[in-house]
Amino acid sequence: MVEDITALETTALGSLTAAEHRSDRQALEQWRLTYLGSQGQIRQLMRCIGQLPLEERRTFGSAVQSLAQRLEVAYKASEQRVSDRLLNRELEAERIDVTLPGRPHAQGLIHPLRQTLSDVVRAFANLGFQAVEGPEVEWDTYNFELLNIPANHPARDMWDTLWITDRMLLRTHTSPMQVRTMRMASATARRQGNEPPALRIVVPGRTYRYEQVDATHESQFMQLEGLLVDHQSSFSDLKGVLTDVARQLFGQARKTRFRCDYFPFVEPGAELAMDCFACEGRDPHCRVCHGSGWIEILGCGMVHPKVLENGGYDPQRYRGFAFGLGIERITMLRHGIDDIRLFYLNDVQLWRQVRYAPGAPRSWNREVPE
Ligand code: PHE
Repeated sequence: MVEDITALETTALGSLTAAEHRSDRQALEQWRLTYLGSQGQIRQLMRCIGQLPLEERRTFGSAVQSLAQRLEVAYKASEQRVSDRLLNRELEAERIDVTLPGRPHAQGLIHPLRQTLSDVVRAFANLGFQAVEGPEVEWDTYNFELLNIPANHPARDMWDTLWITDRMLLRTHTSPMQVRTMRMASATARRQGNEPPALRIVVPGRTYRYEQVDATHESQFMQLEGLLVDHQSSFSDLKGVLTDVARQLFGQARKTRFRCDYFPFVEPGAELAMDCFACEGRDPHCRVCHGSGWIEILGCGMVHPKVLENGGYDPQRYRGFAFGLGIERITMLRHGIDDIRLFYLNDVQLWRQVRYAPGAPRSWNREVPE
């Protein structure tokens, strides 16, 4: 009988070790039921006790009892080791590598048009020009008539207009703000018994034209208007201001060229070109100036006496100059972009690729965030 107990112990511990080795929870449970369960082998041995002769009962009984204890202890220990091992395995699998570099946050970009607009406004602000904004839906009166472009005047053909009613339109340029600003300033001054103040403003904003859209024309685009009015201003002031701004924007080495041009609201009127910042006139195949060496950037001139008068400023005592430039055009030059339609695709990937045009001043080469 006692040999039976020893044999049972050997097999039991053998299969327990095997189950532990495999980290097999189910096998462990099975083992527990087989040996220690209510139908298990230990119970069966205990049930035999009653059939033994009286003198053997005690020894046998205590042998079974102590076997049961040893198996219980062995089982608990195995079970613990298997649980620990499985838990460790799980922790290992779920381990987080805190030394991995973080994922970068997607970062937005300022749209190149916005960037140019704020650079241009800042360049003029350095010379004391204040930025003001005006309505995009405009009256014929301000967009044309008060700018010395009467109804049926052929000069209206210079601006293909999107009409809203027969008197209301989407402004074709930012020039209506010339008269609006002068009127506002002169009326206020007059109410207070003062003479109209000197003005120095720029007007950034959207403008609209009824255009066939192509690589260089959009039906909606941005302009920046400028207006200076005071007692003394002259054409040389105009040249000085615009040359200074061209140098702020395109590099201190820039040369400017003024040639006659016609706009009904200025007299004389001019077109401003600067020498090519990319090739400085040396490359006949230059992508920026197409070999001419010059880049036209804006229209300008001395404010027409009639326009001053329409603004409530006495043309005998005041003079002024005005200019208007296209923000898309300047941005295309800076970035070497050759299709205006790209500006409105809203494609962030595209802008990540955009770099400044060859020959651009160093100050433009700020990093574009990835
Ligand atoms: N308003 C003109 C245009 O859109 C530009 C301009 C403004 C010209 C001011 C001269 C003076 O073409």
